[in-house]
Amino acid sequence: MSWFSPRITTLPVALAVMLAGALAVAQSVTVQVAVGAVGTELQLHRQALDQFMADNPDIRVELLETPSGGTDRLGLYLQFFEARSADVDVLQIDVIWPGILEEHLVDLLQYGADAVVGEFFPGSIANNMLDGRLVAIPYQIGAGMLYYRTDLLEQYGFDGPPATWTELESMATVVMEGERAAGNPDMWGFVWQGNAYEGLTCNALEWFASSGAGEIIESDRTITVFNDAAIEVLEMAARWVGTISPVGVTGFVEDDARNLFQAGNAVFMRNWPYAYNLGQAEDSVIRGLFDVTVLPSGAPGEPNAATLGGQSFGVSAYSQHPEAAAKVALYLASLPVQTLRAVEGSFSGTIAALYDDPEVLERNPFFAGLQGIFASAVPRPSTVTGTDYGAVSRAYYTAVHDALTGRQDAETALALLELELESITGFPTGQP
Ligand code: GLC
Repeated sequence: MSWFSPRITTLPVALAVMLAGALAVAQSVTVQVAVGAVGTELQLHRQALDQFMADNPDIRVELLETPSGGTDRLGLYLQFFEARSADVDVLQIDVIWPGILEEHLVDLLQYGADAVVGEFFPGSIANNMLDGRLVAIPYQIGAGMLYYRTDLLEQYGFDGPPATWTELESMATVVMEGERAAGNPDMWGFVWQGNAYEGLTCNALEWFASSGAGEIIESDRTITVFNDAAIEVLEMAARWVGTISPVGVTGFVEDDARNLFQAGNAVFMRNWPYAYNLGQAEDSVIRGLFDVTVLPSGAPGEPNAATLGGQSFGVSAYSQHPEAAAKVALYLASLPVQTLRAVEGSFSGTIAALYDDPEVLERNPFFAGLQGIFASAVPRPSTVTGTDYGAVSRAYYTAVHDALTGRQDAETALALLELELESITGFPTGQP
């Protein structure tokens, strides 16, 4: 018998074929990315990931659309994490969640982020660093801003946007009543985010912080929600509902306010930067007729306030493909993708170089002033309350919502809120 025996040669060939098949399967992994869908967000994620898949044929990426309200999204994530589910690999994480979700996220510094973190705003990185671990890579930073109709303000004889909330109230009333009398019964003065969710925490914090009414819980751990300025400012906002703002504003999230403003039916809007690009789109009826500026303050000369927002991508500690997942997360936060999102969607990114890009500035002239606004933006008390932040924010927006809808008067709502925050956190109460 020769050494060339068919019995010994066929076996390795068969094995090789089997192994090759197994390798091919092992090489092609699917990464599930949980994202939001505000404005053009979903479409831009999809566009970026198509490019990623073309460059990385071994990684397939699928998008999992999650509830648009941040509060519901957090609830969904906690369900995934409690079940240690491997069904989601990359997650869009709000700026206030790193402390809540920390234990369920991998350290991205172990997966290549160490090479790029130096390009990012140090504050955005610091926000996501917990015990020396980078639990998510920041790709968006935002601040609450005032959108206003330049044409209407000019038509009604106003020199520029309002400096105080009182001025906003009176300007909104004049323009709204004038426009209604002129034949637009759908015109409103001011739209914002008044639904009972995280977005209302952001809006109300701006009213409070710009009026000397405190920042809910101060960085020294004092609960400061119950004071005369807070009662007054909450009474003011409750008065807007049904006068300058539609009654339905107490059910509005970001895109509800944007849709109304973009349809030409509001003089003022509070929103994040993303609403700019859509309003200036070719088919928009308000194209060229609005601008964006800082929010008003409580009294002349007092500092105005913008709540700090932002989004990051984190990788689940229960992912079966953390390497591939981290590659996707880092790509979605990279400068080319931040540039795409800024040019096409007015999403303000977390890499300083973005704000020097001529195309980005041409499409979003207001980006030139954004870095200063971000630097002085008011953070929500998520660092100081840690894992209790979810309960703290829920208590706050529920109390504010009760006052807005008239379930309770502002003073009672805030007195009860103070007690609730004491019992959640154990912190002392005081004046701002
Ligand atoms: C935006 C912000 C986020 C905030 C949310 C509220 O998505 O980026 O930080 O919590 O709006 O609705």
